[in-house]
Amino acid sequence: MFSPRIPRFSPSFSPAELLTIAHSLTRRGDEHAAIRRFEHEFATLIGVKHAVMVPSARFGFLLLLRGLGLEPGDQVIMPGITYWAIPSIALAAGFEVVPADIGLHTHVLDPDAFEAAITPKTKAVVPTHLFGTPCDMPRILEIAHKHGIKVIEDTAQATGARMAGRMVGSFGDAAYYTFGLTKNITTLSGAMVTTNDAELAAYLRREMATAQPRPIGKALKECAVGTAMMVATHKWVYPFAVHPAVVLGNKLGQDPIHDRFGEAEVRYQQAPDASQYQAPRAVQAEVGLRQLTKLERLNSARAANGRFLDEHLANVPGLGVPAYPAGAEAIYMSFVVHHPQREALAAALRGRGVDTTIGYMSDITRSDLFPELRDYDCPASREAFDNLLHVPVHPRLTRRDLEHMVEAVRASCLEGGAGHGG
Ligand SMILES: Cc1ncc(COP(=O)(O)O)c(C=O)c1O
Repeated sequence: MFSPRIPRFSPSFSPAELLTIAHSLTRRGDEHAAIRRFEHEFATLIGVKHAVMVPSARFGFLLLLRGLGLEPGDQVIMPGITYWAIPSIALAAGFEVVPADIGLHTHVLDPDAFEAAITPKTKAVVPTHLFGTPCDMPRILEIAHKHGIKVIEDTAQATGARMAGRMVGSFGDAAYYTFGLTKNITTLSGAMVTTNDAELAAYLRREMATAQPRPIGKALKECAVGTAMMVATHKWVYPFAVHPAVVLGNKLGQDPIHDRFGEAEVRYQQAPDASQYQAPRAVQAEVGLRQLTKLERLNSARAANGRFLDEHLANVPGLGVPAYPAGAEAIYMSFVVHHPQREALAAALRGRGVDTTIGYMSDITRSDLFPELRDYDCPASREAFDNLLHVPVHPRLTRRDLEHMVEAVRASCLEGGAGHGG
């Protein structure tokens, strides 16, 4: 029997979503009704009063900063490792970004580092539930309330994760989520904002009312990309067509998956207003409604895989494994290990059929995009960023895949990472 070939991710997009799209586009429904229904169900899931669909998480974040009354020059604290678009859009809108360090293996905002970063100009903090791991929200809220700081949860990678029994996204003044094709649920791109604040929700709705509807062609393009991902990661296709291309590409110094699906990092020169953004469409909401019915099952499968890896990779020589704040119920969007020779480890794993990635986060105090953040010191973010590697944890992994991965990681680490160049 062949040994497994394991893709780094697997989209939640499936033939069921294709049917939903076909059904939605061939029926003339009320554009707003499906969106309201998705928003209502999403708010109920998270346990908050209001949810508003927005074009992207970054734009939702910008609207939240403005809607919560922040003004240019105000400081916003965010973790040293995050998605580049979040500091980029805040800086473009005239806010001051202040990085604070993360826990080395939790990868989420360290509450002590957050408290130490507060100044009289601090007006908001962005606890980012990175890789599906909830931040220590009880402590972060306590500190934020003591200093009168607004809390905007970045829940882009953690829809459905819980902390202390409560959904993340329900703790702060507001939260944003995103539903790209590689997230745990997708709406063919698009995003959501949640809050308990009726005035803030009304502001978001007014802003969204001025946006032009997204052209249907864009949703169809995303649908084509989703279908391509679905086919490329299928168990009958990936081992024979895609994995060999990944191995070859890497030997030539390229990453065909990242090159195909990644987004270029940019420094926004100007903060956009709502008229420059495109409002989500009913077809996206209908895909979102279908995806919500699978969310708990997909998250549970990820979490079971993640716990298996937690347990079986705990004592591998040279390997750093993830840690979780007390009370966190992570959804394992990524399983992130640390290794001092991660490139060699990645090559050795590819040679054994396991694809990995260094992901697409930025170490914002060292990124060329943000020279003004260079003077901040976030040593744990730096160390994590230089050593991290995402190993597959997606819901389609079988028990055999997991056992193979554990053996592959163990063997590769025992060989010093580089034993099996791929
Ligand atoms: C942690 C985090 N925050 C924010 C975003 C931005 O999401 P969007 O592309 O919807 O703006 C992402 C995107 O993947 C993310 O991973």
